[in-house]
Amino acid sequence: MIRTIEWTDAGVVMIDQTKLPAEETYVTCRDYREVAEAIRSMIIRGAPAIGVSAAMGIALGVSQADTASLDAEVEEMCSVLAATRPTAVNLFWAIDRMKKLYLSLRELPHAEITARLIAEAQLVHAEDIAINRAMGQHGAPLVPDGKTVLTHCNAGALATAGYGTALGVIRAAVEAGKNIDVYADETRPFLQGARLTVWELQHDNIPVTLITDNMAGHYLRSGKIGCVVVGADRIAANGDVANKIGTYSVAVLAKENNVPFYVAAPVSTLDLTLADGSMIPIEERGANEVTRVFGVQVAPEGTAVRNPGFDVTPNRYVTGIITERGVARAPYTESLRELGVKK
Ligand code: MRU
Repeated sequence: MIRTIEWTDAGVVMIDQTKLPAEETYVTCRDYREVAEAIRSMIIRGAPAIGVSAAMGIALGVSQADTASLDAEVEEMCSVLAATRPTAVNLFWAIDRMKKLYLSLRELPHAEITARLIAEAQLVHAEDIAINRAMGQHGAPLVPDGKTVLTHCNAGALATAGYGTALGVIRAAVEAGKNIDVYADETRPFLQGARLTVWELQHDNIPVTLITDNMAGHYLRSGKIGCVVVGADRIAANGDVANKIGTYSVAVLAKENNVPFYVAAPVSTLDLTLADGSMIPIEERGANEVTRVFGVQVAPEGTAVRNPGFDVTPNRYVTGIITERGVARAPYTESLRELGVKK
């Protein structure tokens, strides 16, 4: 299996996703600030992987903190990690989980607190892989045999602790013996589809074809695509889904052409505190990602640019939300509330 992120004695080791597919290199984050910088600079990315990184960052931070000012240092590391990327709710979910555990342990000796937090971060990592496999089991039966699955961005092993959410559903369908192949949108401007999804599916010998984002409508209309499966960064209580920019266009074109559009995401991606998707914070990224392609300027100097990293797909375009606890269907306000509380 692809090793996206690992806890080691030397620090938190991550595959550098800014270098793939040209180079398979690993970086070691030796303190929590380096973990925060790795999330901000997208060495690691994808909602669940960001959550695992934050959990490991806090464990690392606590292990190195000054015992005389531990409470203040934990506050500081939580706020530094929380300021890295705004949209993926898994980041805040993981910080909250680690902080609550710390607060329940703070009277114990430092060595014990450290050991418990490291164990918890490793548990978040192990649980994520198990959750993805469960999601795969729920999602695989929905994938039509003998057809192509379209996906957008990278919701794979690289975006999680392993196996993936959307790509986990695809992997599970292949493992169940279905004869499928994948069309991967390249995902401008950061090219997660071209660089990461294609790389990891090739790694697993799952047939994959790369298309540019503006070709998706053409293939959705052609009858070739059996279903769309994507991941999510945050899902509001009514089933509106924030995911990588361009997802909304794919969802609308899928509905127009009667192609089922599935979202695969763990329950930790649900944000039931938000009534609908209009409240989801959307990250705005730098102009250079749009005006330059691998360092080469492709627009006139000084061009005005917008670069939202995510968009919100209204619930009416979502055929089903595949979680580790089952598949939610409309009306989502009820089905997600049930899944969110179910153990
Ligand atoms: O900006 P990114 O690469 O972090 O965005 C990733 C996505 O939008 C994924 O689809 C989402 O996080 C789900 S990953 C299982």
